[in-house]
Formats: sequence, C-alpha cells, structure tokens
Amino acid sequence: MLTGHDRRQLDTTLLGQRITAPLLVAPTALAGLVAHDGETKLARAASRVGIPVCISTQSVTTVETIRRGAPDATLWFQLYVWRDRALTARLLERASASGCENLIVTVDTPVSPNREYNQRNGFAIPFTPGLRSVIDMALHPRWLLGVLMRYLVSEGIPTYGHYPDAFRGAITRPSIAEAVRLEHRLNWDDMRWLRGIWPGKLIVKGVLAVRDAETAAEIGADAIVVSAHGGRNLDCLPTPAECIPAIADAVKGRLTVLADSGVRRGTDVLKYLALGADAVLLGRLPLWGLAADGERGAEAVLRMILREMDTTMAFLGADRIAALPAPFQ
Ligand SMILES: Cc1cc2nc3c(=O)[nH]c(=O)nc-3n(C[C@H](O)[C@H](O)[C@H](O)COP(=O)(O)O)c2cc1C
Repeated sequence: MLTGHDRRQLDTTLLGQRITAPLLVAPTALAGLVAHDGETKLARAASRVGIPVCISTQSVTTVETIRRGAPDATLWFQLYVWRDRALTARLLERASASGCENLIVTVDTPVSPNREYNQRNGFAIPFTPGLRSVIDMALHPRWLLGVLMRYLVSEGIPTYGHYPDAFRGAITRPSIAEAVRLEHRLNWDDMRWLRGIWPGKLIVKGVLAVRDAETAAEIGADAIVVSAHGGRNLDCLPTPAECIPAIADAVKGRLTVLADSGVRRGTDVLKYLALGADAVLLGRLPLWGLAADGERGAEAVLRMILREMDTTMAFLGADRIAALPAPFQ
C-alpha cells in the first residue's frame, strides 16, 4: 500500500530477450482451424503486443510460411518428438532456419490422449466427415465459408503442415505413419540428444515433479514449463499452482520456470508469478480471440490480459515486475 507510483511497467527479460510482459502464446495444434491462416494471425497479434508465440509441430501452416507472414514475430518452436529421429532433426533444422531460437520440447504427451469428445464429433487427422460433423459445419456457415472453404480452394483439406508429404498424401500407409507417430519411449537420453543438436535455448514442457525439473537442469535445459497441458491429457494431475512453489525452490537460479494451464485473467498470471514462475503461457485464451474476431480478436484478448495485469499490479503496489512484493520474488 501507499507505494506512490504513477504507472506500471510489465516488461521483463526472458531467456535473454526483452518482452512486453512475462507472457507467451502457448503452442496449440491446428490453430489454423480456428481461423484461416490462424497460426500466422496469432504470430502477428503476439508480435504487435511484443510477446513470443510458440509454433506447434502440429500447426496447419508451416513455420516457414508463418515467418513470411509475420517477419517481426518472435517465434519459438514446439517439438513433438517423432519416432523417426532423422525426420525430427530435419524439422528442427527448418525451425532454426526460420529464425526460431528457443525450442520447447513437450514431454507430457507420450500417447494420444483419450478425448472422447473428439471421437464423438468425428474429429481426427486425417479428417473424415461424418453425418454429425456435416450437420455441425452446416450450422456454422461463417466457419465453413471463412475457414474450411478457403483452405479447400487454396491448398486442400487442412492437415499437419510440417508432416512429410508422403505422410500427408498417403496417411493410411502404416510404415510412414509410424515414422511420425509420437515417440512414447521418449526418455532423458532423447533430451540429451536434443540438447546436443539444438543450437538455441531448450525448454522442457510438461513438468510437474521436482525430480524431473532437477533432471532437466542437469541435462543442460534452460527452462521448464510447469504444465498440466491445460488439463487436456490427464485430467486428474495435480495443478501447476500446487507444483510451482517446490519446483521453483529447487531449480531457481539454474532454470527459468514457465507455467501454464487455466490462465483466464491477468490475476491468474500474477498468481503463477506469485508462486514462483518467471512467465506464463496462454493456450485457449488467444484461440478464443482468434475464433471471435481473427487477428484483431487475438490481439484484443492479449491486450485485455495486459490491462488486467496492470490493474492487479496497481492493487499490489508494484510499478514493475521486479518490484512485485514477496512471495513474488
Ligand atoms: C487446442 C489446443 C491444442 C494444443 N496443442 C498443443 C501442442 O501442439 N503442443 C503442446 O505442447 N501443447 C499443446 N496444447 C497445450 C498448450 O500448449 C497449453 O499447455 C495449454 O493450453 C495451457 O492451458 P490453457 O489452454 O488453459 O491456457 C494445446 C492446447 C489446446 C487448447
């Protein structure tokens, strides 16, 4: 109370880069289905706001195309390790050549999650329309015309842009599908291998246990994301809010600690910072903005979070992130 400042500054340094606020747009597969060219729109929105955006291995649009559409954006690349390590390494070369300096390796998805709503709605890659999805699309003409039709007339049925042509074209050939299946045998040796071949910063996403955070530090990772994958993989996991304090205690100084899952308000960002995170990823929030109003909508949601953070900082008596009171620092 009574800290007597005029305005707040949210900017901070994250892994050596100055950013507008301790925020990132999280990697979200198939964001390009939410809006036509959705990944590029997210990248432009994040860039205008001044925060990084993480491009998913499973984006509709490739990292090269996103880079062309958002030349000023700070792109991070998110990797799902494929069984075929040579293909995986080639994908990383493409990410690096597209100016991604930071690599997020997601380790909390060894198999495809059991998403019954996707099965019920007939949603899968490759997409095969059924009665239910056809009716659903007919009831959403704006999406049908503005998203799906635009893909159909330009590049065909939207799919995973980074996957090799052979896989995209002949998705039913099991030998090829096997090559790009999620590697369920992933272990720390794979992380050491990635540390060896990736020239930039390495971030391990999906850590909830202190021991895993410590191992990440030992193999030379630069950061971790304390994440429950937004509750989308294993919905009975402990929450990041429960796990961050002990993890931050154990690895602060050795690792940058990022966090995500369930952030809906600026206050939620500040809660994660209070518990010990250095920055926070937003998954669904910018997607909802993108769905409602495209690039403008995504930017509006990000600016809303910045405003809410600013108000919360005022209530906390902090004029900058570094001045947040204990237990924030
Ligand atoms: C539609 C959707 C797709 C996602 N795809 C990925 C992905 O490809 N890679 C990944 O590491 N995380 C993925 N995630 C998880 C997010 O990166 C993030 O951990 C999570 O969404 C955070 O929770 P929030 O949505 O409540 O903010 C996805 C999340 C959503 C909602």
